Amino acid sequence: MPEVYRQLDDTLGALLARRKSHGRLRKLSNTPPNSVDFSSNGYLSLSTNPVVQKSLLARLAAEVSASENGNRSRGSRRQILGSGGSRLLDGNSLFAESLESKIAAFHGAEAALLFTSAYDANCGLLGCVPQVGDVIVYDELIHASVHDGMRMSRATKKIPFAHDSMSEASRRRCTGVGASRPARQSKNQGLDDVLRQISESEHVRSGRSNVFVCVEGLYSMDGDVVRLNEVVRSVDRHLPSGNGYIVVDEAHSVGVFGNDGRGLVCQLGLEDRVWARVLGFGKAMGCAGGVVLCSSTTRSYLINYARSLIYTTSMAFTSLASIDVVYSYLMDGGAGPLRQDLEKLIRYTHHQLSVLCVRLQVDRCTLHVQEAPSKSPIIPVFTAYPRSLAEHCQRSGFMVRPIVAPTVPAGSERVRICLHSTNTTGEVDGLCNAIGIWVQDRVAVGRDDESAEDHGVAEPQNVFGRVKPRL
Ligand SMILES: Cc1ncc(COP(=O)(O)O)c(C=O)c1O
Repeated sequence: MPEVYRQLDDTLGALLARRKSHGRLRKLSNTPPNSVDFSSNGYLSLSTNPVVQKSLLARLAAEVSASENGNRSRGSRRQILGSGGSRLLDGNSLFAESLESKIAAFHGAEAALLFTSAYDANCGLLGCVPQVGDVIVYDELIHASVHDGMRMSRATKKIPFAHDSMSEASRRRCTGVGASRPARQSKNQGLDDVLRQISESEHVRSGRSNVFVCVEGLYSMDGDVVRLNEVVRSVDRHLPSGNGYIVVDEAHSVGVFGNDGRGLVCQLGLEDRVWARVLGFGKAMGCAGGVVLCSSTTRSYLINYARSLIYTTSMAFTSLASIDVVYSYLMDGGAGPLRQDLEKLIRYTHHQLSVLCVRLQVDRCTLHVQEAPSKSPIIPVFTAYPRSLAEHCQRSGFMVRPIVAPTVPAGSERVRICLHSTNTTGEVDGLCNAIGIWVQDRVAVGRDDESAEDHGVAEPQNVFGRVKPRL
């Protein structure tokens, strides 16, 4: 490396070292081949689904031969690998527009606008719609892409509200020895209180300021679902002038909830009460990309002002085709049996984990799960030693990942299990067995060998208490 760059590298190296000392160093990793996937977000296993894969290949082959046989000059052939530019310049296509119409109709929305990712969709939407004088109220656990959108936004106020005030997490208790998991201690007020206070301002009461309320359909860390009907009631109660606009990020709930996977908003019949939805295709849908479902006017506005749409190359035909193929699969009812398999597996896994906790009489610092069965394929296994547990499971052939602070609040560290419709009960048994062995090993060794220095896990505190537990 040239000497002139050394100084900057030293600075960056020092920042990385500091991050490492806090146990927060991120690294890229590969899933070992043949390990059982309990980690990825492809809940319906669509990206590995042979029917979907074959449809996509047939679609691409048809497009290539149409392009070759269409007597077109080389320069005017259909772009297959790329798109040719920004949507506003050369990156638009009739195919993209008809896909948007298909998606909007499927989800009962007036219009849809594709983005290259749900991250871009959130940034684009929140970055340009709220104006000076407006307020954004957001779930304190909302995804980073909403935060980044808010950073770009000109909204005058951005106010977090306590997650548990509108999520099913607050209604769950935990299984494990000892008391149930205390409710998460939030320093933020609940949504209802936040909206009541905001509505005291003359601008908001009169309807001159708009209030955007941002939630996720399914939260990917706890696997809990937003109580969307209550969000709607709260907005109606405090913003009767109609200036409350609910935004639901359905990145994790599309495909998983609702008829044929239409998502949570459709499941609850709230299409007309939610102002905008952001869907992600990178999770249950098994592809990549995102879309905003909104009114036609909002769509036109985004085309004019959303920087993450305007200043980037639009989706390649290969991406559009894969989204199209997956939607056709859902429309043909293909997701139904997959969801049934998944639901059975969710019940089975939760039951097996609960039985394991009871059988092992395990200290809740070491292991506990929520008492109420999960409604989603995301099942957190709470432990003060997430890295140790995850490493053990990985060595045993099961890919699960540790989730530590600051991704989740300190004291609620966990190993996250993500289920897929292609996982089997035998695989779940194998995972539970591995978890059981890990617990027994800890009991046998009778020591706590996971320290913040060695493994980068935040010292157990709050929920788990400052004193490290002994088994
Ligand atoms: C809730 C939520 N919204 C948005 C995104 C961004 O999705 P994408 O991967 O399509 O950018 C994610 C991704 O992790 C997410 O979890």
